[in-house]
Amino acid sequence: MKNRKSIVIIVLTLVLISVLLVGRWLRVFDLDVLRNHRNAFESELPDSSVESSALFIPELIDMTHNNSEFEITVDETEFEFFPGYKAQVKSYNEQGYLGKTMRLKRGNTFYPSVTNNLDEITTIHWHGLEVAGESDGAMGSVAIVNPGETKTYELSVDQQASTIWYHPHAKGFTASQAYEGLAGLIIIEDEYSNDLNLPSDYGVNDLPIVLQAKLFEAEGNLNYGNENTEQSFENGDNSLFNGLLNFEDETGENSETTDGFVIMTNGAYRPYVTVANEVIRLRTLNGSNHGIMDISASDDTKLHIIATDGGFLEAPSEQEQFEIAAGQRFEVLLDLTDKEIGETVDVIANNQVVLTVVVSEESNWSTALPNGLVAISPFEEYNEQKTTHTYALGRNTINGKQMDMMRIDETFVKDEIYYFEVTNEDDENHSFHIHNSQFLVVELNGELIDYKSSGWKDTIYLRPGESMKLQVKFRFTGDYMYHCHILIHEEKGMMGTFRVVDEE
Ligand code: C2O
Ligand code: CU
Ligand code: CU
Repeated sequence: MKNRKSIVIIVLTLVLISVLLVGRWLRVFDLDVLRNHRNAFESELPDSSVESSALFIPELIDMTHNNSEFEITVDETEFEFFPGYKAQVKSYNEQGYLGKTMRLKRGNTFYPSVTNNLDEITTIHWHGLEVAGESDGAMGSVAIVNPGETKTYELSVDQQASTIWYHPHAKGFTASQAYEGLAGLIIIEDEYSNDLNLPSDYGVNDLPIVLQAKLFEAEGNLNYGNENTEQSFENGDNSLFNGLLNFEDETGENSETTDGFVIMTNGAYRPYVTVANEVIRLRTLNGSNHGIMDISASDDTKLHIIATDGGFLEAPSEQEQFEIAAGQRFEVLLDLTDKEIGETVDVIANNQVVLTVVVSEESNWSTALPNGLVAISPFEEYNEQKTTHTYALGRNTINGKQMDMMRIDETFVKDEIYYFEVTNEDDENHSFHIHNSQFLVVELNGELIDYKSSGWKDTIYLRPGESMKLQVKFRFTGDYMYHCHILIHEEKGMMGTFRVVDEE
């Protein structure tokens, strides 16, 4: 009897303490702040205040064993971006929104299958993965997964530890399906990544952070943009184009700005996450259809960038802020070892709080920021070798052309080194993403740049007039594409195709 009484007292005390602790961060946000933004776009929001919710952590699927298989389904789902307001979206494995995180290991082969439960075509493209063309999930009819069909991919993972991602890539449906929630993270581990003593407890101190700029209707559904925007496709197939997703403002169509958009974090508005007072790792993906985000933290907390799209930097790079364009990833460490229990740090993207990190317990792990990470070895020393290929980005065109799946624009030889010069000749912003490649940027606007500090990339972002020179090598063969990762530009034909062959 006595025992039971003391248990009840202990439980009640614990409940009281947690209510007090959590209550401090369950702030009630006033959405009018966002509604009153006077911008080109104004996301409407459910006509109520919204409580901050805990950061949603997609389940981690451990696929680090050789020949592992995983079944991915593509589903229509309902999801509440704002509690109490249902939105019609899409997700993988009926998760509600987004997809599960998969952990893969270098040296292993992974066989994911995708079953399309939608009533429209889809594919899965493994953005950032270097893989044979047949499994890249983007080029030609072989990639298409029709409604009701299942397709199995063979992914032989042979690249550095990194954070990459997966999303649909069926022409005409890429932009709408990505906007509606089809995206997920992939973590690649290798022989070095586990020895670096980095935070790697998924969901605890190693956090998936998918940032997405969205517009909403007042009833909670996604808003698809400006219906009045003219939709003419010079060579594109209009009939395939599904969805509007044109957000035009003074900086151009779907260009730089995310002003007026709400930046969601793993599908939630300004969520919080509780952590210990240790070093934590944020695997950030800008999973938006367009736009660049300027990421910083409150209270002068420094961001220590440890990895870019394709792998680690040589050492953490301490920054006050960094820019992440749609499609890119940055892994960042926050050093919370000096924080008191109860302190918070806000992560900010384009002036919006996108995550509140709450230090809620003592760490039982002694972490410190690492000094060194992994060497970046270029494919060859860069001595101002000549440009081998040029790409002029125009208004929804590359080199004046629009996408034609039936046309192969270039052929490359596997394992040769190429120098691409990419120039934005348009007066709005564009990006450039290359499939089957992790490359280094060796020049910016004709000046040498320190590629070791900018790191491995698969996506670059160029403002009007900017140019970048890239050192590129392809290690797998097949048919692929490069394109602007502003998805509506891609849909409008801002893509080119290439073939990688074994020998000339
Ligand atoms: Cu992230 Cu061709 O795509
Ligand atoms: Cu890609
Ligand atoms: Cu573009």
